[in-house]
Amino acid sequence: MSATIIDGKAIAASLRARVAEAAADLAARGIVPGLAVILVGEDPASRVYVASKKKMTAAAGMRSIDHTLPPDTTQERLLALIAELNRDEGVDGILVQLPLPPQIDAGQVLLAIDPAKDVDGFHPLNAGRLATGEPGLVPCTPLGCVILAKTVAPSLTGLNAVVVGRSNIVGKPVAQLLLAESATVTIAHSRTRDLPGLCRGADLLVAAVGRPEMIRGDWIRPGAVVIDVGINRLAGEGGTSRLVGDVAFAEAVEVAGAITPVPGGVGPMTIACLLANTVRAARARRGLPEVIFEPA
Ligand code: GUN
Repeated sequence: MSATIIDGKAIAASLRARVAEAAADLAARGIVPGLAVILVGEDPASRVYVASKKKMTAAAGMRSIDHTLPPDTTQERLLALIAELNRDEGVDGILVQLPLPPQIDAGQVLLAIDPAKDVDGFHPLNAGRLATGEPGLVPCTPLGCVILAKTVAPSLTGLNAVVVGRSNIVGKPVAQLLLAESATVTIAHSRTRDLPGLCRGADLLVAAVGRPEMIRGDWIRPGAVVIDVGINRLAGEGGTSRLVGDVAFAEAVEVAGAITPVPGGVGPMTIACLLANTVRAARARRGLPEVIFEPA
């Protein structure tokens, strides 16, 4: 039996369409949400992400404000730019593309962003709000994972969810979101004993380790929902390369009930959720009621 393939591209496109409607509604009141993206350095993958963010922000009817800084940018210069964007009334969202060059303390940078404009949801205040169940801005990739899971399992209540990976960007926040959905959540990592056995107990498996095809087909419970956050580039033949996830897709698709592909699964959801967060921030900053973009 072959799993249902969760079409992240199509689901992201419909989310972006709902965001564009909400942006048009704001535009009718004279409000054009602005998203500032700061890129420090020349990391090729980061450049691709930032170019895509810029294009999709404009396509959703919002304003994209881009700041590209040289790789030797000082911490002071970056903090000064963030302070300026925090004060700028036309800026609703601020995103600092990660990773940052080694001379910059990423923790201090994230702390400097106004939590009301923190569309990445990485500020410790927003992380704390997520952990305590208070409303706030939620990290984009984790939000995308939960939206995708709910397209095939509308209620996550009582499901055994295993998250493989404990990063601040994906593993920890996705675990918090799943807990808020009343799943029974286990966070696994490189020191976990019998990871294959633990994964076999999962009704919902979220793979966010950054290790190409680490999770094998026989680690997956028949019928489970598998959300693959990994984006790993593997060298192919003749100088080519291909993208693979953290899950061995060809094996997993034979066992799982539903699975996200790589590419075309979680990846497209990140920017769609970023745009949704920008509209949320634009509304919240003006005291307007929240809009719900995701299926309930
Ligand atoms: N680098 C990789 N993913 C992300 C993300 O979601 N946000 C930011 N700011 N940087 C990233």
